[in-house]
Amino acid sequence: MLTTEQNSEAQADNLIIAIDGPAGAGKSSVAKALSEQLLIDRLDTGSMYRAVAAAALASGAELHDVEELIRLANGLEVTGEGRCLVHGTDVSPLLRDAATNTAVSVVAATSEVRAVLVALQRSWAKARSMAGVIEGRDIASVVFPDARLKIYLTASVEERARRRSDEGAASIVRRDAVDSTRAASPLRLADGSRELDTTGRSIDDVTNEILSWLK
Ligand code: CDP
Repeated sequence: MLTTEQNSEAQADNLIIAIDGPAGAGKSSVAKALSEQLLIDRLDTGSMYRAVAAAALASGAELHDVEELIRLANGLEVTGEGRCLVHGTDVSPLLRDAATNTAVSVVAATSEVRAVLVALQRSWAKARSMAGVIEGRDIASVVFPDARLKIYLTASVEERARRRSDEGAASIVRRDAVDSTRAASPLRLADGSRELDTTGRSIDDVTNEILSWLK
């Protein structure tokens, strides 16, 4: 549980907690635990890129049709329960499909799509008085460089592949390689980010360490 001091910290302005890292590093689990402990909302920005990719696949759009990807991104709405609608169609059940895992790398490397989604992410935070846990690849480096806490989660590739056994090791290694080497907002340890290796550690353990940094 939080101390009184931590609770009042949670209400202070700029309680943006930015979490970046490769696939399977533990971002979503830790973001969920932090948001529950701190009583602030969380945003999974990966689901936003996935939603645009899934909508493009569903409509048969060409992934290199930048105008169409921009149109889809402009139609994205993330509901309070974290469901993703694109121009009113709920694409949430498609977000983890194998085809989406492949297509998302192309969509996320498109800087024009990133510009639309980054603007949505900043509006999301503004609507919450700059309090929220936000996870992705470029949150500390690009979206919220002034976040209160900037965290880069990692874990061994073996452990990440185990956590993502549905997707498979080859797919996560491929996504990580594309994410780290693309020109637009590549995955990297941002200035001022604290690196935390979650290999062999429980969600509670990692969450408590991060909460101790807020003191
Ligand atoms: O859950 P996992 O870490 O495996 O992936 P995700 O967070 O759902 O993100 C899926 C993909 O979206 C990543 O592989 C990136 O290509 C892209 N992404 C991004 O480029 N920037 C973000 N802020 C979040 C995700």
